[in-house]
Amino acid sequence: MAEISNIKACVFDAYGTLFDVHAAAAACRDMLGDKADRLSAIWRQKQLEYTWLRSLMGAYEDFWRLTQDGLDYAMETVEIDDPHIRETLLGLYWELSAYEEVPTVLSQLQQMGLKTVILSNGSPDMLNAAVKSAGISDFLDGIHSVSDVGIFKPDPRVYQMTVDKLNIAPSEICFMSSNAWDAAGAAYFGYQVVWINRFGQTAERLPGKPQAILSSLHDLPALLK
Ligand code: 2OP
Repeated sequence: MAEISNIKACVFDAYGTLFDVHAAAAACRDMLGDKADRLSAIWRQKQLEYTWLRSLMGAYEDFWRLTQDGLDYAMETVEIDDPHIRETLLGLYWELSAYEEVPTVLSQLQQMGLKTVILSNGSPDMLNAAVKSAGISDFLDGIHSVSDVGIFKPDPRVYQMTVDKLNIAPSEICFMSSNAWDAAGAAYFGYQVVWINRFGQTAERLPGKPQAILSSLHDLPALLK
């Protein structure tokens, strides 16, 4: 793996990387029964597919709308028709838990003199709520939402937005995502990238390769020292 050096900022994908997107369905396991995991997987997959498809169609709507559309698709697929479950799951999406190592790692990176920033498809209000509820506001120097450019990752305009906001070169950014396609998009754009392969996924066959692969954020500070 190539060395990661000359970094000024650590930029993080939010959902799946800092926040556990499956926490909402997990918290409703008593209501969802053995459909919980399947519902959660379809919900996440559809939410992402809609970001790619709407970007291609030139039909941007914010991530909250796509999160609801993905859930509606998933509920119909697993044959759950219950407005109370729908509202409960959506409510929980605003207070997803952060993975356990997140606060410590963000604080260590700040102590190393690095800026810590979120760059996410999420809408600003969703991201602010999740950051607050996870108690990590103090460990973040910025929250960048694609809503400023009106298109989703991996469109290069998204990655460029953070370069412009931070006023540094793409290669001075170390970007972390658990989404392999996002890691590819960011590396292809010119960031240095660490793929956080939390879910043991197969590597994407896409241009743009991560410089390092970790299974959680835990070892990130050591990698950047
Ligand atoms: C995010 O931008 C892709 O989940 C994703 O936070």
